Amino acid sequence: MQIYRITGGRALCGRIRPAAAKNSVLPLLAATLLCSEPCRLRGVPRLADVDTSLRLLRAVGAEAAWQGGDILTKPTALLCGDIPPQLAGAMRSSVFYLAPLLLRCGRVTLPLPGGCRLGPRPVDIHLSGLAAMGARVEARAACVVLTRTAPLRGADITLRLPSVGATLTLMMAACGAVGTTVLRGAACEPEIADVAAFLNAAGAQIHGAGTPVLVVRGGRALRGAAHIPLPDRIAAATYAAAAATAGGQVTVEGCRPKHLAPFLQHLRAAGCAVETAPDSFTVLREPARRLRGGQELCTAAWPGFATDTAPLAAAVLLTADAPSRIYDALFENRFACAEGFAAMGARVGAKGRLLWLGGGGALHGAAVTAPDLRGGAALMVAALAARGTTQLTDPGCIARGYADLCADLRDLGAACAPEPC
Ligand code: UD1
Repeated sequence: MQIYRITGGRALCGRIRPAAAKNSVLPLLAATLLCSEPCRLRGVPRLADVDTSLRLLRAVGAEAAWQGGDILTKPTALLCGDIPPQLAGAMRSSVFYLAPLLLRCGRVTLPLPGGCRLGPRPVDIHLSGLAAMGARVEARAACVVLTRTAPLRGADITLRLPSVGATLTLMMAACGAVGTTVLRGAACEPEIADVAAFLNAAGAQIHGAGTPVLVVRGGRALRGAAHIPLPDRIAAATYAAAAATAGGQVTVEGCRPKHLAPFLQHLRAAGCAVETAPDSFTVLREPARRLRGGQELCTAAWPGFATDTAPLAAAVLLTADAPSRIYDALFENRFACAEGFAAMGARVGAKGRLLWLGGGGALHGAAVTAPDLRGGAALMVAALAARGTTQLTDPGCIARGYADLCADLRDLGAACAPEPC
């Protein structure tokens, strides 16, 4: 067991490079099951969810191993469609194995997937889409079982809402289906185009990834491919938020600033100077200058304000000169971090999807608990602006999305270290 100890009040300074995007890497690892030849994902961060994915791949019979900073996978002919409950329960992304295993094995059993407790996270869009392609769907008390007696067939599917996960599931399923699939109302997040680029490099024919209408010509044998996943836009936003709360000057390089444009706009509105180049950006904030509040933020699917960055924006606005509000349109319990913010002395109130931030005052160090991945990162970011030391317990969920956020912040000059407890 560890705690993180963070002492606030130090301005940050330096350059940092985000790792490859967790939200690309996790579906990419599942997508390698569709390929008949070895695949290589380059420059993969050592995240807890990546570890879980490797164990899941091996549990269903694939070979998957680190080779330096890369992951090499080799699907075998003998795959099994039973996803072990402890692996399914460890991360939401176990849902990405539904389509590949259904295609490869003809049957897949998925115990209820885990992940951050952000509220109900149904998988109905994944399941109804797969059913439209010919899968038989059986929802049992603690698991879902999908079977097929013939190849999946292409279908014209309109998604009830632009779910990132369901778009990825149906895009993967469509690659192995006979005929053409059209996905309408698809999610457009950059990670979807990234996974499509990998699949196309392996031989798939996916058109329109990154737009609301995807057309997939299925039934092509997929070879293997090597792929460099996108830089992580949420990690980039985390470093930007850290620079904003602590003050100082931080350059995030090797990233795509246009992938976090709404977040950078929020930092500008808060009074930070933000300069962008095509593959880097710099956030500058005078530590003595108070941040501006009065923001009304509402999360939305791409290209809107990303839900994963909402707790980070909250951390930035905690002590601003005027109240702000953030509404999360995607998840019911995005702001479980409000309790930790309040323990640090912030005027804050979470009611369902709405977070109210009173602004004013100052933060002080406190004992807080990381409630979930992004909420935990947001508490760390807030602690950089607090007087005194914050002790953050249960940091394990943060390791699901950042290889070592403590070390990243330390590299930028923060006083932040893990300690055994
Ligand atoms: C992905 C991201 C996550 C991000 C989220 C929204 C990965 C690994 N995770 O999660 O970091 O916060 O997108 O950008 O990529 N929904 C349904 N039925 C479904 C599927 C989704 O009702 O079958 C709802 C969800 O409850 C939620 C909304 O749709 O309210 C969006 O969810 P979705 O885009 O699917 O998120 P994830 O793919 O789980």
